[in-house]
Amino acid sequence: MHPGRFPATRLRRNRRTPALRAMVAEARLAPANLIWPIFLCEGENRTEPIATLPGVVRHSVDRVPALLEEAAALGIPCVAVFPNTPRHKRTPDGAEALNPDNLVCRALRAGLAANTGVALLADVALDPYTSHGHDGLVNDAGEIRNDETVEVLARQAVIEAEAGADILAPSDMMDGRIGAIRAALDSAGRPEAAIMAYAAKYASAFYGPFREAVGASGLLRGDKRTYQMDPANAREAMAEIALDLAEGADSVMVKPGLAYLDIIARAARRFDAPVFAYCVSGEYAMLEAAAAAGMIDRDRAVLEVLLAFRRAGAAGILTYHAPHAARLIGNALRA
Ligand code: PBG
Repeated sequence: MHPGRFPATRLRRNRRTPALRAMVAEARLAPANLIWPIFLCEGENRTEPIATLPGVVRHSVDRVPALLEEAAALGIPCVAVFPNTPRHKRTPDGAEALNPDNLVCRALRAGLAANTGVALLADVALDPYTSHGHDGLVNDAGEIRNDETVEVLARQAVIEAEAGADILAPSDMMDGRIGAIRAALDSAGRPEAAIMAYAAKYASAFYGPFREAVGASGLLRGDKRTYQMDPANAREAMAEIALDLAEGADSVMVKPGLAYLDIIARAARRFDAPVFAYCVSGEYAMLEAAAAAGMIDRDRAVLEVLLAFRRAGAAGILTYHAPHAARLIGNALRA
């Protein structure tokens, strides 16, 4: 026995001080890795609390420039806008999606005019605008009409690009929508508009708080399982991602995030394209509820979760914690 030489390998050496740990960190989280989703409401200089998302509010459009200034100051490169469409503007065909003066388009124009340099992302899907809460058009039998929906989505994407969206994010999960949206953007003279495809989007229980935030609670007839993915499937997610990239997506997204880290890791290894993760409303709500109950340390848990996405290989994370996390990262850098 050689007690002085045992053990020869001591992995703890690299963990001894904060400086040594920083040198060997394999994954890093920066504000540039964050995308901040914000909710919109009608009105002037108005915020509305969202019962299911403590700490998150809806903002009227006039507040958008200030939010973008805040993102810019925090180093957050992208803000995603989601409308709470008043009930009376929701129809079976979701026609409000094609209104160039809808909430999202007004917010995009305000954001573009503010000229903050922060990228503007807009969802492409009909669910904020339909009276039945589905992402697509529905026939009398309650079935989703895929190809008719895709035609509307392509027009919606062009309208959003014309209002100022840098990135269009189809979140509808119809087949063939990425190719159709790319073609529509190009023929409308918007070749620069990028597409971030919600490529592997699962039929999840974790979207509950979001549906309250966009005023869709209680509207949904049936569920979204004929278009959103079965949580059992991983190989199928690779097929979805491959198709969306082949159809012209500039980046892809996996959603939800925490329960699907395996999908993110697999996609990041397999595809030479940026893979984003959406840490969705139910995941935000879980963290906030546990923190509010004194069960976990909120700040540490938030950063740990976001770092996990980076370790899995995500280029960035859509998270309602974006401004809070950016502040925490900033404070740590100054410390
Ligand atoms: C709409 C859409 C949803 C989310 C983003 N875009 C909800 C859904 O598909 O039902 C969920 C986001 C979240 O839960 O944070 N197509």
